[in-house]
Amino acid sequence: MKILLLGSGGREHAIAWKLAQSQKLEKLYIGPGNAGTSEVGENVALKADDFPAIRQFVLDKAIDMVVVGPEDPLVKGIYDYFKADEQLKSTPVIGPSKQGAVLEGSKDFAKEFMQRHNIPTARHQTFDGEHLAEGLSFLETMPAPYVLKADGLCAGKGVLILSTLDEAKRELKEMLGGMFGTASSRVVIEEFLSGIECSVFVLTDGKDYKILPEAKDYKRIGEGDTGLNTGGMGSVSPVPFATKEWMDKVETRIIRPTVEGLAAEGIDYKGFIFFGLINVDGDPKVIEYNCRMGDPETETVMLRLKSDLVDLLEGVATQTLGSKNVEFDSRPAVCVMLVSGGYPQHYEKGKLMTGFDAVGESILFHAGTALKDGQVVTNGGRVIAVSNYGQTQAEALAKSMHGAEQIEFEGKYYRRDIGQDLA
Ligand code: AMP
Ligand code: GLY
Repeated sequence: MKILLLGSGGREHAIAWKLAQSQKLEKLYIGPGNAGTSEVGENVALKADDFPAIRQFVLDKAIDMVVVGPEDPLVKGIYDYFKADEQLKSTPVIGPSKQGAVLEGSKDFAKEFMQRHNIPTARHQTFDGEHLAEGLSFLETMPAPYVLKADGLCAGKGVLILSTLDEAKRELKEMLGGMFGTASSRVVIEEFLSGIECSVFVLTDGKDYKILPEAKDYKRIGEGDTGLNTGGMGSVSPVPFATKEWMDKVETRIIRPTVEGLAAEGIDYKGFIFFGLINVDGDPKVIEYNCRMGDPETETVMLRLKSDLVDLLEGVATQTLGSKNVEFDSRPAVCVMLVSGGYPQHYEKGKLMTGFDAVGESILFHAGTALKDGQVVTNGGRVIAVSNYGQTQAEALAKSMHGAEQIEFEGKYYRRDIGQDLA
């Protein structure tokens, strides 16, 4: 099978690494990819949201399947673009239709969907600029802290958690006044939930679903979960509190009603569903849906997925997922993200990277790297994910720490406490 994978981050390198292990794979292209993906496939100069260019490439190379890494092309409707094209409509796109991607693209839609299907989540109401006064009054009925969410996509920056009523009122006015452009023309105000988060991933063909290994990511820049939010500083899988009993609750209360709800509403969804969950006194609740895999969770999830990913994706495309088997590797996996000094604020790019040969057993997933004159240089805030298996989570972390020490570039920073809060 000839596959085109869209995207360029650590998530895409991890998916590419896993696809490349399949006997069923004939050729893997990654558009646009990064320095790491070029080790497991061929990078092609395609932007993930340039649909006409992707169309031409798929036809020229007789691509059999397109796998979409990031949310952007899905929210813009790449699935529907293929379905509507005479020459492309039989080429499967792994990812939901535009309507399905709204689960991620609109927080208000996601909340209403959960309400319709009795899926546990925080109590909420949504307000637009014309209903600011009602929004301010609603805030007065809520206990602190206050959670404000821009309805639309904001590259992960659209959620504010405020400790005082005054701050919450001020921020609500700012958001509805255009703080995040049209993305915050509507704002979801919701109850604050207290607990530990866990990311659960599912593949669905619209009829059946398969649960993939769960993971936890670490979003704050500083050790002990302090400082600014980032795209993710590391991840672990499995998550110790996600016991069989807890995952059974997740499946019956959240996963099954979601997949059945999508089908009942006639929403075409064949791809990954990412459930951002929080464990509130032993009960899982949904914080958010994403229509793609998580980053950097994928960098540990792919390590722990034993089954052939191409075979599973074929099952999605042909709606035969129900007959497939998903096997997990029982070994824990830990990923530690090396980032550029200054990230998530200002940082420099183009720093020479060395030490790749000294990382021991570490599996390196490139996030923000590029090739320059035959050498690998930094090309983003999050640079490279150092991932390992261990007999225990502590052993996997120790191996990733060793790998993280060996890779050198000016300004390198990483957290040493990934997974420590769960141990
Ligand atoms: P989201 O973009 O929806 O994932 O939100 C970003 C982060 O904000 C989440 O990962 C949580 O840490 C936090 N968060 C979002 N909603 C809530 C909530 N209702 N209660 C507590 N924390 C929340
Ligand atoms: N790791 C969280 C995300 O991918 O949105």
